Amino acid sequence: MSKEKKLILGIESSCDETAAAVVRGGNEILSNIVASQIESHKRFGGVVPEIASRHHVEQITIVIEEALAQAGVKMAEIDGIAVTEGPGLVGALLIGVSAAKALAFASGKPLIPVHHIAGHIYANRFETAFHFPLLALVVSGGHTELVYMKEENSFEIIGETRDDAAGEAYDKVARTLGLPYPGGVQIDKLAAEGEDTFHFPRAMIDDDSYDFSFSGLKSAFINQLHNMRQKNLEPSPKDMAASFQASVVDVLVTKTIRAAREYGVKQLLLAGGVAANRGLREQLIEEVNLELPDVELIIPPLSLCGDNAAMIAAAGTVQMEMGHFAGLAMNAEPGLEFDEV
Ligand code: KG4
Ligand code: ZN
Repeated sequence: MSKEKKLILGIESSCDETAAAVVRGGNEILSNIVASQIESHKRFGGVVPEIASRHHVEQITIVIEEALAQAGVKMAEIDGIAVTEGPGLVGALLIGVSAAKALAFASGKPLIPVHHIAGHIYANRFETAFHFPLLALVVSGGHTELVYMKEENSFEIIGETRDDAAGEAYDKVARTLGLPYPGGVQIDKLAAEGEDTFHFPRAMIDDDSYDFSFSGLKSAFINQLHNMRQKNLEPSPKDMAASFQASVVDVLVTKTIRAAREYGVKQLLLAGGVAANRGLREQLIEEVNLELPDVELIIPPLSLCGDNAAMIAAAGTVQMEMGHFAGLAMNAEPGLEFDEV
């Protein structure tokens, strides 16, 4: 493989964002277009898969054309087409995969399959180069995992949630407070103005595993709300949010620091939609400085925490360098595991 910087077109459609991006050399964004469907899903309080698929169909061509136009790049100049293969909603994934296959067939360019979570991790490549071994805390709407990477493109899940993902718990408790979907960012805002007065449990914080559990916290939150409302009391949403966030962040940060120390990593990465959380970012920065001064903490910019295609192109660049390509028989894999990458 030549050393010249590759131009990769990334395509992402695993959930409720239709996205395309052009990335040079795996770490330089030439364009990053994201068409969000949040407004369409808001009135249902969550993502409706059928509606998501329809929006992807409407948006995908427009978004890809815009990504190329904004980058000032013609399809003929693209070296490879990276697309999210999974995990995600099957109908949503299929739109991106079909578009990528059609483009690959028409242009003769190689097709590169990308794992969505690998994409979230590689969003950090826009910040700095990776030094292995590293540990990534992946926190999104569908995943909460500690991923150990001993080298490029090698992903070992050393801990994960046993029930709800962190983002899912955020969205569910936000709903009980009557906040609009997606509730994570709303809880984060409220939390900044409240105090941890309810002291919700910190599930599994002291056990030996690196696993997480958030459904007990979610139940504690909902019970607290119901109990108070039965007594005609309305708890302060700011304190409820701050108390919920303190529990989530304490557990995530404590276990991540412990794992990073035990695995002797050089870098610690934050990844996924919940990486945008202010409380999590602040506490992680503080504790890494204090406890692991030799470990480099990397946090992606807010614009690259949520789903986007630049991160898919970044992960795709590595796949391409390793010679991992897909044929036109490629399919969407809604339950794709890391060991299938
Ligand atoms: O990675 P992402 O965009 O989609 C998935 O792959 O799941 O993550 C979306 C999740 C949602 O649950 C959303 O509420 C959460 O990320 N989120 C946040 C914040 N911003 C987004 N959660 C907590 N605090 C935030 N600031
Ligand atoms: Zn995601």
